[in-house]
Amino acid sequence: MKTILVTGGAGFIGSHTVVDLVQHDYKVVIVDNLSNSSAKSIKAIEDIVKTEIDFFEVDIRDKDKLSYIFELYKFDGVINFAGYKAVGESVELPLKYYDNNIGGVITLLEVMEEFGVNTFVFSSSATVYGIPEKMPLTEGDKTGAASPYGRTKLFIENILSDVALSSQKWKIISLRYFNPLGAHESGNLGEDPNGIPNNLAPYITQVAIGKLEKLSVFGNDYDTPDGTCIRDYVHINDLALGHRLAMEYMFNKKQSVNEIINLGSGKGYSVFEIIDSFEKVMDKKIPYDITKRRAGDIDISIASIDKAKKLLKWEPRYGIFKMCEDMWRWQQKNPNGFH
Ligand code: NAD
Ligand code: UFG
Repeated sequence: MKTILVTGGAGFIGSHTVVDLVQHDYKVVIVDNLSNSSAKSIKAIEDIVKTEIDFFEVDIRDKDKLSYIFELYKFDGVINFAGYKAVGESVELPLKYYDNNIGGVITLLEVMEEFGVNTFVFSSSATVYGIPEKMPLTEGDKTGAASPYGRTKLFIENILSDVALSSQKWKIISLRYFNPLGAHESGNLGEDPNGIPNNLAPYITQVAIGKLEKLSVFGNDYDTPDGTCIRDYVHINDLALGHRLAMEYMFNKKQSVNEIINLGSGKGYSVFEIIDSFEKVMDKKIPYDITKRRAGDIDISIASIDKAKKLLKWEPRYGIFKMCEDMWRWQQKNPNGFH
């Protein structure tokens, strides 16, 4: 049985990935400082997989504590989700983001190197494409992040590429996620945003449950068929699967690996289409106003997923209705998330 360290495993994407890994016979150890999550998500994971998870409430920048954990286990690989992700906050507090996201990964890589663990998956983001020139986005397209958050992802991708080139022993994949949506289908594990959600889907479900009054649609004058922005939404469990397949791809490789791979659905939905999909699933109307554009939003973002299909043999399994259904079940069962 292989043992995988999942940092940030108490968070949204990490927790679903842990479930997938444990259900496929991996031993998983979680390190998370709970800065944007709750220990209750660990309990929710354990209830789903019916196994106890080894969890350490540790900051990945704490080299001594991290080294202690590497002494306790012989890891076959590491998946890093630990990091801050609020684009707006990163503009106000850039150092907080550079310190945690970049500092965290550097410390983690140093400890991995020291303990001879060289297989690594990193959570990157479609935000690194900046203002795209064509659709769909392929991994070789021009990059150019528009926020400190996005730049942390871009800098880390570059650091990882340098590390992978430095020695044949490294196997590294950066996964560029598009827009994760959905929840575990039990309705017991899902996204638990802090305060008022920044993202479209949790905002919609919080309006539907009565926690928020109405949605603001940020602009209907984009260069798209209905005037609202188009994004590529991917089910959280498909993202989770992508991480396991990325690990398995590297485990099966004799040579070093240095890859960047998009994970999306390859399909685009506008804000109005997402509202419509949720309304059908929930059988209720979502009140909304059209407001001005949100700074930094681009009109369209859609992934080319050819590389993920070819290299990882990954194929998204779930469509937009399943994403909305699962997310709505989670919201109804947990109106206050894990709180
Ligand atoms: P999340 O905030 O739910 O999960 C991140 C987890 O990392 C949290 O549990 C947090 O407590 C933990 N953490 C943060 N800093 C840490 C540190 N220094 N040490 C230990 N733990 C730490 O976020 P998520 O949505 O699950 O995203 C996971 C990763 O994927 C992030 O790096 C994010 O930037 C990236 N990503 C997310 C999205 C998205 O839309 N959710 C899109 C692209 C990329
Ligand atoms: N939107 C609204 N109203 C809202 C929230 C969002 O109209 O209340 C619109 C946005 O303007 C955008 C679309 O819904 O057109 C999707 O917005 P999200 O905030 O849900 O997602 P983004 O595509 O803006 O951002 C997400 C992640 C970022 C990541 C980016 C690219 O939140 O962290 O995808 O990967 F950088």
